[in-house]
This record gives sequence, structure tokens and C-alpha cells, in this order.
Amino acid sequence: MQIFTTTQDLRTFICQFKSQNPQKTIGLVPTMGALHKGHLSLIEASLTVCDCTIVSIFVNPTQFGENEDFNQYPRKKEADLHICAKAGVEIVFMPEVSQMYPLDSTLQTTFNAPAAMANVLEGKTRQGHFNGVLQVVLKLFNLVRPDKAFFGRKDAQQLLIIQKMVQDLFLPLEIVPCPIVRNEEGLALSSRNAYLSPSGITQALRISASLNAVTKAIMRGIKDSYELKRIALEVLEGLEVEYLVIVNHELQNIEQIQKNSTLILVVVRIEGVRLLDNLWF
Ligand code: PAJ
Repeated sequence: MQIFTTTQDLRTFICQFKSQNPQKTIGLVPTMGALHKGHLSLIEASLTVCDCTIVSIFVNPTQFGENEDFNQYPRKKEADLHICAKAGVEIVFMPEVSQMYPLDSTLQTTFNAPAAMANVLEGKTRQGHFNGVLQVVLKLFNLVRPDKAFFGRKDAQQLLIIQKMVQDLFLPLEIVPCPIVRNEEGLALSSRNAYLSPSGITQALRISASLNAVTKAIMRGIKDSYELKRIALEVLEGLEVEYLVIVNHELQNIEQIQKNSTLILVVVRIEGVRLLDNLWF
């Protein structure tokens, strides 16, 4: 496994790889590190279908708000490298902030995510978050020029906004959505779960339980969003639900669910930690 910390080394590798292997494909897995089995599932998906897998590990400052956990965000360089090497990753790209944002002025976003999708839900409480995500993801796409890039359905709004950027800007790559990885009890894996106490984790299990209740209700034939939300909220009673919505892929609220175009998104705050989960129907 090769580790690059500068954009120059990465670019040189990509140019050589492409000229020496014109038929071979490159898969990119963008992450912020503190890798867990959720990230690993994306890495494995890339290793399965691409000839060369590049994992980026970069805690991106421009997607964190002023009062958010940029400085506290878990950084686990050695463990991350071990996970990547064991999985069989070819390249890890782990730049410093000064590499990705060489001038102070480049910390400003050059274009904005579409407001209708970026200023709602996660974007409502995290102003500018998705502009920062698109900024760093586009930088990574331009540096790596991957054939495919892998993103988790866990961050549903992020995935939909990135897909929209790729469509809108005619970017020449395929976005591969990957299923949510959960622990044995159903809790969606997240680097932020590490902030929870054991009792917080027990409470958090009700989030996936609420989505399971919705799945069962859908299987019984219930299509009405209001009724499905009621069923989910019953399971979450007593917890601090920040939002629970039933939307289409443009993130607009819908009254009746429709197969293959509906998302149920939930955010619950436990012990001060915002926990996201969702169901793609
Ligand atoms: P990060 O939170 O590290 O997540 C990296 C990728 O792992 C994302 O695509 C996310 O959806 C996926 N992921 C996280 N937990 C998962 C789980 N339990 N199951 C499946 N996939 C999971 O998302 C980011 O970083 C950043 O915003 C990034 C895209 C790297 C831009 O900075």
C-alpha cells in the first residue's frame, strides 16, 4: 500500500497509472477517517469492482460549522492505515489541510450546493455544511479522476446532493451508493457513536427499531406518510427527535410513499450527540 500526503504525489501517481493502465478502473472512497465497518464496506465494494482503490482520509474543515466538533473529531491514523492495508487498498491519500486548501482564501466555497436540497434537514442546523462537502468532494474527484466513487446511504442527504452535482456538472464518473452497515443490534455505525455512554447506546437502538416498525407497516400495506410517521414516533417516544421526515429524492415531503423513490430520514439527539438513520424504500 502506498500512502500519499501531498496532492503533487497523488497527481503524479494518477497520471502514471492512467497512462500505463488505460483500461484499468480507479475507485475512490472519500472518508474522514476513524474507520469502522461502515467505511470498510465501501472499501470492499470498490476493491470488488475497481482495479485500483484509493481511500482518502481527510477531516475537512469547510464542512464543520464554528461550534461543531472539527477539533474533537476522532483522528486514528495508525488504526486507519492498518484497516486499509489489511483490506488490500492500493493507495491512501491523507493530506494536511494546507494541501487541500493551499491558500486561506480557498477555504471559501467557490460554488453553493442547490439551496432546496442543501438548506433543509441537515443543512438547516448545519449552515454551509453541504457547500463544504461538495467543495472537498469535487477537489478529490478532480485530483483522483476516479471511474467510480463510493458513498454510504447512511448519509442520505449527502449522497443525493453529490449525485445531483455529478449530474448537473456532467462529471465523468459513477456514484455507487452502498447500504447502511449496522452493529448486531441494529445501530447504524458512525464515528460519533464513540461519544455515547452504554446507556446512550441502549437508547440509540430505538432509532433502528423505529425504522423497522415502519418497514413492517409498509409491508402491511400502509402508504400514508402521516400514519408511518406516527408509528415511528411511537417507538421513539421520550427521545429528543430533531426531525423525522418522509421525502422523495429531491428531499420534498410526500404524503404517500412510492416504491424506489422514498426516503425516511430521522435524526435523534442522545447525550448531545446527533444520530442519523434512514430507510430507503
Ligand atoms: P465520513 O463520515 O467519514 O463517511 C465516509 C463515508 O462512509 C460516507 O459515504 C458515509 O456515508 C459512509 N458511512 C459512514 N457510516 C456508514 C455506515 N454505517 N454504513 C455505510 N456507510 C457508512 O461522509 C463523510 O465522511 C464526509 O462528508 C466526506 C464525504 C468524506 C467529505 O468530507
